[in-house]
Amino acid sequence: MVTFGPSKDHSYPSLTRKLLPWTFYAIIPLVFVRLYFYPCPLPHSNPILISSSLPPSTLEEESAKETPCDFTSGDWVPDKWGPLYNGTTCSTIKEGQNCIAHGRPDMGYLYWRWKPKHCNLPRFDPNTFLQLFRNKHLAFVGDSMARNQLESLLCMLASASAPELVYRDGKDNKFRRWRFDSQNITISVYWSPFLVKGVEKSNAGPNHNKLYLDHVDERWAADMNVFDLLVLSIGHWFLHPAVYYEGDSVLGCHYCPGLNYTEIGFYGVLRKALKTTLKTAIERRGRVTNGKGIDVIVTTFSPSHFEGEWDKFGACPKTEPYQEGEKSLEGMDAEMRKIEIEEIEAAKLSAIQFDNLRLEALDVTKLSLMRPDGHPGPYMYPFPFANGVTERVQNDCVHWCLPGPIDTWNEILLELIKGWEYQSIKEE
Ligand SMILES: *[C@@H]1O[C@H](CO)[C@@H](O)[C@H](O)[C@H]1NC(C)=O
Ligand SMILES: *[C@@H]1O[C@H](CO)[C@@H](O)[C@H](O)[C@H]1NC(C)=O
Ligand SMILES: *[C@@H]1O[C@H](CO)[C@@H](O)[C@H](O)[C@H]1NC(C)=O
Repeated sequence: MVTFGPSKDHSYPSLTRKLLPWTFYAIIPLVFVRLYFYPCPLPHSNPILISSSLPPSTLEEESAKETPCDFTSGDWVPDKWGPLYNGTTCSTIKEGQNCIAHGRPDMGYLYWRWKPKHCNLPRFDPNTFLQLFRNKHLAFVGDSMARNQLESLLCMLASASAPELVYRDGKDNKFRRWRFDSQNITISVYWSPFLVKGVEKSNAGPNHNKLYLDHVDERWAADMNVFDLLVLSIGHWFLHPAVYYEGDSVLGCHYCPGLNYTEIGFYGVLRKALKTTLKTAIERRGRVTNGKGIDVIVTTFSPSHFEGEWDKFGACPKTEPYQEGEKSLEGMDAEMRKIEIEEIEAAKLSAIQFDNLRLEALDVTKLSLMRPDGHPGPYMYPFPFANGVTERVQNDCVHWCLPGPIDTWNEILLELIKGWEYQSIKEE
């Protein structure tokens, strides 16, 4: 009865068209769909509807009352269930984030769940995700945070269905692709730390990055036509020394002593890079009718938690989340997030005439800021203290342990997509 396939404007399972015939048994799939997308009881949900034969319009009126959840403000609360996976059940955890396998002794950081203020964030359901993304191609594009988020997602999905690696480029796993054959799902990751065209600093070449702010990076954007969902995640690479180009001229630089360019910082540059990227996505994929749809999500800036020097013992020593009110979002973390949110909002406005393109921020900055306990720290390497505690040790207080708090990002991602589906059911 419920068939999943390309809808007229959107490529998520198109429930709407197929459910519209007001036949009696159309009610059943509608209820099914509702329960399917919202497996946890909703404030207004009424199980009696399942057995009664109320007209579908009743369901629609009821659903109209629901307001979307604001996932951004809330608190981390203890959770006895713990993660969906571990290093044994998931084989794709990157070395540097495999904290348990590397001997991180405390486990408390695994037993927290994000509780938004006015609603609940359901536990990630891999089967729901796999259903929703049937026949879809999902791409993560950005820096190592994009990869960290992708690897969290793969591990959570692997608890239901094992992904098959079908492509990798030779160097550093920068471009990889997996398939879930039985659902015909493709998930890709593209390394592109600026999203726009860039040349990364290297030992051989100049010791600064070069960014071409008016050109999107074609290493990923050339494939734009095949994506159904694009998750973009950048930020940390903008802090490095760089020279910025726009058109034929140098716009300025960031931390480039010895080069005769104007220091312009990186905030305006991050903004331009996002603007160029989102504009390009809209130009290439925006259609008024009958276009294969694309959804674009920008994961907001992920704060790091260094306390003092990065290579000193105990660089990110916390073992519990901050509680609400204990840590405020400020400084660079706040500014990076603000720019990303503003650019997504601006892009939404400029794409308003297109009905096959949806844009949203996955606003994880604050909830991540509250998790100083979630980083590998010295456990980026196996058993760093096997020969006793040393004063100097490399620490990763930027990326997130897997499993870890970054799993929550994908729980919210799934809710965003479910919310969109629900919205499109309501609108028809
Ligand atoms: C990993 O998870 C599996 C299944 O839940 C469990 O049996 C196993 O003990 C876990 N391994 C570790 C190292 O926690
Ligand atoms: C598999 O998914 C792709 C999109 O990723 C789609 O173009 C193709 O038609 C799908 N194949 C089948 C058999 O549905
Ligand atoms: C630096 O740039 C300015 C303006 O472009 C130019 O006048 C000046 O000669 C340059 N200085 C050096 C040392 O190249």
